[in-house]
Amino acid sequence: MTGDPLRRALDDVWYCVGESRRFRPGRLAAVRLGEEAIVVGREASGALFALRDRCPHRGMALSAGRLQDGNLVCPFHGWQFRPDGQCAAIPALARRDDASFATVRLPRFAVAERSGLVWIAAGPEPAAAPPIPEVDFAYCGMLVEILEVEASFDLVALSFVDPAHVAYVHDSWWWRPSKTLKEKVKHFAPSPFGFTMTSHTAKSASFAYRLLGAVPEVEIEFRLPGVRLERITAGAKRIANSTFATPLEGGRTALINAMYWNIPALNALKPLARPFMRQFLGQDRAVLETAQKGLDRKPAMVLIGESDVQSQWYFALKREFLRAREAGAAFVNPLEPRELRWRS
Ligand code: FES
Ligand SMILES: [Fe+2]
Repeated sequence: MTGDPLRRALDDVWYCVGESRRFRPGRLAAVRLGEEAIVVGREASGALFALRDRCPHRGMALSAGRLQDGNLVCPFHGWQFRPDGQCAAIPALARRDDASFATVRLPRFAVAERSGLVWIAAGPEPAAAPPIPEVDFAYCGMLVEILEVEASFDLVALSFVDPAHVAYVHDSWWWRPSKTLKEKVKHFAPSPFGFTMTSHTAKSASFAYRLLGAVPEVEIEFRLPGVRLERITAGAKRIANSTFATPLEGGRTALINAMYWNIPALNALKPLARPFMRQFLGQDRAVLETAQKGLDRKPAMVLIGESDVQSQWYFALKREFLRAREAGAAFVNPLEPRELRWRS
């Protein structure tokens, strides 16, 4: 780990921590966000809360406790905390004991739910953070796969904007039947906190796309901190394929893929689709983990040519985000519309 903030995952922005259904009413779950351990609870009302997963008394993991009458109960000595983090009771205090726990409180994290996923901000007040992605159509199915990768947040996020790896890493027959590299021309425009490869017709549509039964329009947006949103439209049929990176402890990163569709016929394919998604993400994990070892020995990258321009943009966006936050100023997207050519 380096001290350079440009090399660390951004603080005080939203990160996906899993599927909504993992967080059941009246239950607690442990979540990691960078080096922070967080307990997430869902109240009977359905509302979520997120607090530091560390009892101030003796450091116990509160996620090992339980929810009782709306309060979080520590399993070690039963201290109780309200969902806002305020200590509400210390059962061991005798009646005559006037010790005050008014100032005992757990740090709280912002938590939100969008399109079947839970998001937590690595900080108290994600005011100027990039917006949480949301699916913009009525989906009838979703499929989520989460992999932990022994690689830095940057390395994982860069794989979202790296067209040149596809031919070498994702060369499965069902995704990329052709082995030859073709020259691609793509148009990019700045979008909030990122850039978008503007909608085009996927002429040499892969087998996976051809399942749609029509030539699809594809638009791919990248947004800080590590969000890739692929929107596929074929007539009224819609598929959203969203990929997120979330920093974990020890320099590891969660690679999250959430796919949504509004095509009822695809619901039956869901059990078949999962192994494909897992294989696809596993291909990324394998190269990312090996590349990370190389970067650990020498943390430098050589970014060359138009196939690496999006990688340069990633760092430019991150640099501007850090500058704006440091200056207390608004984020100003440093990118210009541009056509990029590469072979993939
Ligand atoms: S450690 Fe939590 S109540 Fe003692
Ligand atoms: Fe990939």
